[in-house]
Amino acid sequence: MLLLAIETSCDETSVAILRGGCLLANAVSSQVKLHEKYGGVVPELASREHLRNLMPVARQALGQAGVTSDELDAVAATRGPGLPGALLVGLRAAQGLAFALSKPFIGIHHHEAHLYSPWIGGEPLSLSLDKFQPNVSLIVSGGHTMLVHVAAPLEHRVLGGTVDDAAGECFDKVAKLIGLPYPGGPELDRLASEGDDTSHNFPRPMLRDDSHDFSFSGLKTSVRYFIRDNPNVLEDGQRLRDLCAGVQAAIVEVLVAKTIRAAKKLGERCVTASGGVTCNSGLRAALGVACEREGFVLRLANPTLCTDNAAMVGMVAHLRLANGGETTSPDAEIVPGWKLADI
Ligand code: KG4
Ligand code: ZN
Repeated sequence: MLLLAIETSCDETSVAILRGGCLLANAVSSQVKLHEKYGGVVPELASREHLRNLMPVARQALGQAGVTSDELDAVAATRGPGLPGALLVGLRAAQGLAFALSKPFIGIHHHEAHLYSPWIGGEPLSLSLDKFQPNVSLIVSGGHTMLVHVAAPLEHRVLGGTVDDAAGECFDKVAKLIGLPYPGGPELDRLASEGDDTSHNFPRPMLRDDSHDFSFSGLKTSVRYFIRDNPNVLEDGQRLRDLCAGVQAAIVEVLVAKTIRAAKKLGERCVTASGGVTCNSGLRAALGVACEREGFVLRLANPTLCTDNAAMVGMVAHLRLANGGETTSPDAEIVPGWKLADI
């Protein structure tokens, strides 16, 4: 089966081509530069940029894969959650293509795509579900922080999520407070790697809370107060790096401790992690240490597949179609507030 998948839920325009579940091409055009001067994603600009970029990105993916659109057997796109205007561009393009080719269309949940991305591996890349183990999965993106129990492929249950800011949002908002360009997560990570993470003791919100929920807005506020009371910290390179290390340590400790606790509670011995924040070097290292201590298997999404991409959308589309999953109507609407718990 030759499948084309589109991802346009936020600020990355991406098109992937898969044959028999193996990745032939994954073209991604990021809008980071466009939104940088506004300090965050501007939804209207994001939609227009997707409109501008989608066809060139699709041509690039088809060219890299060495196929033409009339050879396709199925078309997939992210249907939600995400920015409404951005989702519309990818969904309608995919539905139009499927309609014109008289081929099936399937709408994919963006977080389900992240959820299985740690299983993408091998050469050529495909879902290595022969190695699948029931697991507890941490999804940490710009807008979401979630713990999910995956009992079997396509069988998952949401355990908890953030009650306010997501971990990625916290990284980005703190980065903004200290004057780093958007999205600040990667730069904060770089500065933190040269800082002393024991020099601050920022709050670890909901660390001891028995639920599987998260909250990061209190941490952001305490960093804001710290900077208000110690403005010189921004002028001193080493103190700034220590501040970044202290913030990152607080976020990472909460994410790791709650993930490990959830796995123990559910009796699972495998942990996976995905989403943009899974690029964070501190999080990757700390999950590695904690899983080794507990004797757990750890599967982290490849850094190139942590941020938004159509490859992960195509992988879930292939998995669903190969397992006799339902296709989606070419008239189906976007679902901007789609909950993972509802699929
Ligand atoms: O999954 P993603 O590409 O987009 C959403 O679906 O939201 O995640 C983007 C988020 C941003 O908040 C960005 O700052 C964060 O991932 N991020 C990082 C790192 N790389 C990306 N946060 C911390 N450290 C990083 N190295
Ligand atoms: Zn995402």
